[in-house]
Amino acid sequence: MRITGTGHASMRIDTAAGSILCDPWVNPAYFASWFPFPDNSLLDWETLGDVDYLYVSHLHRDHFDAEHLKRFISKKATVLLPEYPTSQLEDELRELGFKSFLKTKSDEVHELDGGLKVMIQALISPTDGPIGDSSLWVEHDGVRVLNQNDARPTDLTRFNELGHVHAHMLQFSGAIWYPMVYELPEAAKTAFGKQKRDRQFDRTWRYIDDLKADHVFPIAGPPCFLDDTLWQFNDIFGDEGNIFPDQSVFMAEYAKVGGTNGIVLLPGSVTTLSDKSAETTHPVPVDEFFANKQQHLEEMRERKAPVIAAEKASWRHPEIDVLGAMKKRIEPLLEESLYMAQGVGGPVRFDLTDSFGPDGEIVESIVVDFPGKQVRPYADEKVRYRFKTGRALIEHLIHIDEGDWVNSLFLSCRFSAARIGQYNEYVYAFFKCLSEERLQYAEGWYDEHEKAVEAEDTVLGDWTVQRRCPHLKADLSRFGIVDGNVLTCQLHGWKFDLPSGRCLTSVGHKIRAEKTAE
Ligand code: FES
Repeated sequence: MRITGTGHASMRIDTAAGSILCDPWVNPAYFASWFPFPDNSLLDWETLGDVDYLYVSHLHRDHFDAEHLKRFISKKATVLLPEYPTSQLEDELRELGFKSFLKTKSDEVHELDGGLKVMIQALISPTDGPIGDSSLWVEHDGVRVLNQNDARPTDLTRFNELGHVHAHMLQFSGAIWYPMVYELPEAAKTAFGKQKRDRQFDRTWRYIDDLKADHVFPIAGPPCFLDDTLWQFNDIFGDEGNIFPDQSVFMAEYAKVGGTNGIVLLPGSVTTLSDKSAETTHPVPVDEFFANKQQHLEEMRERKAPVIAAEKASWRHPEIDVLGAMKKRIEPLLEESLYMAQGVGGPVRFDLTDSFGPDGEIVESIVVDFPGKQVRPYADEKVRYRFKTGRALIEHLIHIDEGDWVNSLFLSCRFSAARIGQYNEYVYAFFKCLSEERLQYAEGWYDEHEKAVEAEDTVLGDWTVQRRCPHLKADLSRFGIVDGNVLTCQLHGWKFDLPSGRCLTSVGHKIRAEKTAE
């Protein structure tokens, strides 16, 4: 089996029974904020795109690059489709010209021509990707690979059942806006960022330990930020609170916990994998490349400046009545939303500036009033969350009829945020569900989920607690750690006060817990 690194979460897997291209991403994503790093735009995409199978793990724009898929990937390729609750991924791929689809069943092995076997595990909670994320398992001739991608299954049991895995590809770095965009004192931001950075690595070690593959490949990030206003997010300033450590940092941290089997793939690196060994060749020496990271970034910034400028030129549509358009789109959804509207539990304010981000003059303030089920002008009131961003960005979202503001605005990091009280996942869940289909799905999921997490118990130290984490159902007998009266679920690091059951990380999500009798 041959694995070619093609940048970020992308790779091409070649076997004697066929080739699979995974998540090819080249063009900037999220309002031209994220670029793949190292730059993969000069690879021979005509050849790489001539494949038998295409796997797009999910619809996040750093995995689903419509322009690139349309131009370079063979439409004769059969799409290996994860089993998602909505048909959006399939619909969008069909629109790009793909015609052949293998609709996989989640967690089921599918045997393709020539003895190539694949299995896709689809995660389907409203907080997984843009409603859905997935991992691809491949086997050929006794060699097994798990491309876990940036998916976060509660455990890897299903993959372990299929036999020893030889190569495990997984995410290790950050891919979110927290805590950088929050309006916090610098010291607090650094402390939260550091916690997050540590937690990302802890989670990665846990997955690696779970699977115990022969070789581990750090993939799916971090992106790089080439616009001047976002440049500080690149991990080149020695900031211990930066959540975007790169592959060379991964190798150093992995070595500290005893890891000796890591392999970094640059775009163009090729690993020849067997059940006994992995031989890798690189286009340039990896250490040397990362030693000159800043210089590579600066050169890339220069090369990509025209791309960013062209994108920016398309965002402004001042003629759009933003308040009217938000009212029309959001009010009917507020009306239908039970769980999410109640979960948000207060007004959310959008301050819109005359720039392309949080800086500049505020020209309009709009409130999405979840309890009042209304979108209206801000009325000098207390709000649950406040977002500050460029009016032009919202104009553009309205112009392109975007139904997922997480997979566009929020991941762009071109905003600032402030909140009263704890993190509230319902806020972000709602803004990724700005369509009838998604809203209904998410509401149904929360409804079922609330009932399901209640059922079983487990004992942790002196406490009997519900077995499934109130966040995303992780098995607390594996992921739960009790320290005094606080339980931490290590999957995403959420904390719970056991005597009261209160979630210390987010609103709602109470846990059932009782001190075990002595
Ligand atoms: S499942 Fe996310 S913190 Fe437990």
